[in-house]
Amino acid sequence: MDIIREVENHLNNEKEYNSFFNIYSFTNENISSYIPFFDLKNKSLLTVGSSCDQVLNASYSGCEDVTVCDVCSLTKYYYYLKLASLLELNRDEFLKFLCETYNGIENNPYLLNKRTFNKIKNTLRNLDYDSYYLWIYLLSNYDINKLEKIFRNDINIKKDIIYCNEYLKSDKNFKHLKSLIMNTKVNFINGNVVNEKYDRLFDNIWLSNVAHYLANDEINNMFLNNEKALSINGKMLLCYLWNKEIYFNKELNKYITERIILPGSNIHEDNSILIYKKTL
Ligand SMILES: C[S@@+](CC[C@H](N)C(=O)[O-])C[C@H]1O[C@@H](n2cnc3c(N)ncnc32)[C@H](O)[C@@H]1O
Repeated sequence: MDIIREVENHLNNEKEYNSFFNIYSFTNENISSYIPFFDLKNKSLLTVGSSCDQVLNASYSGCEDVTVCDVCSLTKYYYYLKLASLLELNRDEFLKFLCETYNGIENNPYLLNKRTFNKIKNTLRNLDYDSYYLWIYLLSNYDINKLEKIFRNDINIKKDIIYCNEYLKSDKNFKHLKSLIMNTKVNFINGNVVNEKYDRLFDNIWLSNVAHYLANDEINNMFLNNEKALSINGKMLLCYLWNKEIYFNKELNKYITERIILPGSNIHEDNSILIYKKTL
């Protein structure tokens, strides 16, 4: 499998932790606060996000059709690991197994722990054999202290992760998502939202804060490329902002139809989102 070679190259080279090859184990965006501004029930969504928390929260809101387009080639494999964990574990086990992916097992002895993996592995095999094969291979051949290098090392504490994700806010919410998730059809594209050619339209498009990493001409191309794929009356999350900063990028600003400051707690009160709504 090419993906095994790719992961091994990453693990064996002294590569940085913060490339987009690394998986975000959980979102660091306040999805829980921005999701009510989108119409997802029985609608479609195109999103980036290697954590796939965008998929899980959208499914929680009744979305049955999600496409994830992400440059991180591990996205699909991580999704199935997370999905099998969601289906087979309780909320506490799920968080212990996948959260706190930094500073090795001294910090989190449950991280990708083999006993927990044994509980989910049959379900994982049934969901997606390639993902099962990859995770069995990695867990059998690598120590967790080494394997944690496949994750971003942005420190994201459990309290914040729960705050950002509606499906993690209570045991009831977690169980509710368990009952819904298999109704959501999920497709994966390992691609770049700046120029990926989609063969269909979407009612919602979420571009996270990808614009922060792009040059002006790329921002323009990203907008035009995704606008073509947006349905009439559809909404695009153009950019997620971390502070109450006004994003003065003129390429992006000319497309904004709405800017929403997200309601939130101390840690997230300054976040906002920029939206483009497509009309006739
Ligand atoms: C910009 S990062 C930030 C993480 C984000 N705040 C979250 O909570 O998921 C979001 C995702 O975008 C992906 N990404 C970055 N640039 C991209 C691009 N040009 N096309 C597709 N995916 C991209 C990354 O791999 C990552 O999974």
